[in-house]
Amino acid sequence: MSETHEHYIDGEWVPGEGAETFESYNPANGEALGTFHRATEADVERAVAAAEAAFDEWRDLSYIDRAEYLWEVYYELRERHEELGTVVTKECGKEISEGKADVAEAWHMVEWAAGDARHPQGDVVPSEVAAKDAYMRRSPRGVTGCITPWNFPVAIPFWHMAVTLVHGNTVVWKPAEQTPLCGQIIAEMMVDAGIPDGVFNMVQGFGDAGAAIVDDERVDSVLFTGSAEVGHEIQLKVAEEPGKQVACEMGGKNNVIVTENADMEMAVHSAVMSSFKTTGQRCVSSERLVVHTDVYDEFKERFVEVAENVAVGDPLEEGTFMGPLIEAQHVEKVTSYNELARTEGVNVLVDRTELDDDEIPEGHEDGHWVGPFVYEADPDADLRCIQEEVFGPHVALLEYEGDVDRAIEIHNDTNYGLAGAIISEDYRQIHRFRDHAEIGLKYANLPCIGAEVQLPFGGVKKSGNGYPSAREVVEAVTERTAFTLNNSKEIEMAQGLSADIKTRED
Ligand code: UN1
Repeated sequence: MSETHEHYIDGEWVPGEGAETFESYNPANGEALGTFHRATEADVERAVAAAEAAFDEWRDLSYIDRAEYLWEVYYELRERHEELGTVVTKECGKEISEGKADVAEAWHMVEWAAGDARHPQGDVVPSEVAAKDAYMRRSPRGVTGCITPWNFPVAIPFWHMAVTLVHGNTVVWKPAEQTPLCGQIIAEMMVDAGIPDGVFNMVQGFGDAGAAIVDDERVDSVLFTGSAEVGHEIQLKVAEEPGKQVACEMGGKNNVIVTENADMEMAVHSAVMSSFKTTGQRCVSSERLVVHTDVYDEFKERFVEVAENVAVGDPLEEGTFMGPLIEAQHVEKVTSYNELARTEGVNVLVDRTELDDDEIPEGHEDGHWVGPFVYEADPDADLRCIQEEVFGPHVALLEYEGDVDRAIEIHNDTNYGLAGAIISEDYRQIHRFRDHAEIGLKYANLPCIGAEVQLPFGGVKKSGNGYPSAREVVEAVTERTAFTLNNSKEIEMAQGLSADIKTRED
């Protein structure tokens, strides 16, 4: 593989100013997938300048004309579903149905944004004065910096960019450094669609490039999806710059509640999917299962049985349920949290932190493998392992007694507030959860993963401000402006304010 992939800035593929390059690796077997130029601050500066220069012309197009470019991307995403889904799986390690679902989620978001271009984009608002017509009209904010994670390397870039572009903003995007090949292909699709020079720019690189985007005063909005640690830093930074806006979607320490009225089949199925799909590397993955004492033993036995046997393996194989973790550093993090749980004195039920040699598929010895780690802990104990996000298949069973309010109390006892589920056959318990769970994404009799793009997506508390998806992202990348037109020859003011001009002669 000799080609070194470039940045896409101002309508051109460019190597950038820096001398450094980096590699993308398949986390399942260590295979190199490509070499990429690493962006410097100067590259980001050029990209932002291009986005700023392109803004006026782009914003002057109609919504529908802008959406036409996105429709081209939509068709290409659909045509290349299989191929791009496979690249997702190779580059971020999630099993193949998830790799393909990532691409489907991307075109759903593009469809939403491009289709929305033909919908009304403002409000007709009544005025106190009959002769006045008043409107809420949206204006694009300008240059939007998009910083996206590796775990949804195709879907999340389109959560950020599709609505943003249709609404007349220009973009500087930095894909995650773990999934630059997905970034490269998405950029190629934007080029194929003929999107005008400077409207879409991509820089490949690391946190320093992301920070340069956030710091640039010409960037009007920042969209970030990723860790709470980085997200909070970005929020602080942006708060120092009046006029800049940020929308963050960050992690969670998500719960599934299983009440005494739960259907056990449903409970086990939902918990396994919530905890182990994507090898626990979704921001919505569940690391806490809050289970009523009456059904605890049965649930524990059945959940442990699946955790012992769930198929970890080559993500390209249809029979795999869990692929590898994204990188060696992440294996270290998950392993250290598993050790921390032991140190904190929990009762470990399943420990597949290190898989047996025969579980690792041939030719995949260099993959970043871990299996499920399941333990029981006291929900009231002050333990880091049940409070901090691990982002892996690390799951606590927390037993509770009493009514559903007690379960909700445990559920809400984390700093995060992203996703959660209740499993119950009792609608009163479900409604209690719906009204009192402090999270942005609530499910009943379902896993707490798998949101669709037409719903809001985002959290409360430490998990973010709930913006970066479909309808909600519109608020982050546009200003609501008021426009009032007087149809009369006279000026008449609202609120009884006098419009008379009085002079000294009066
Ligand atoms: C994430 O977990 O990082 O709801 C995003 C879901 C997906 C998106 C998850 N639609 O699971």
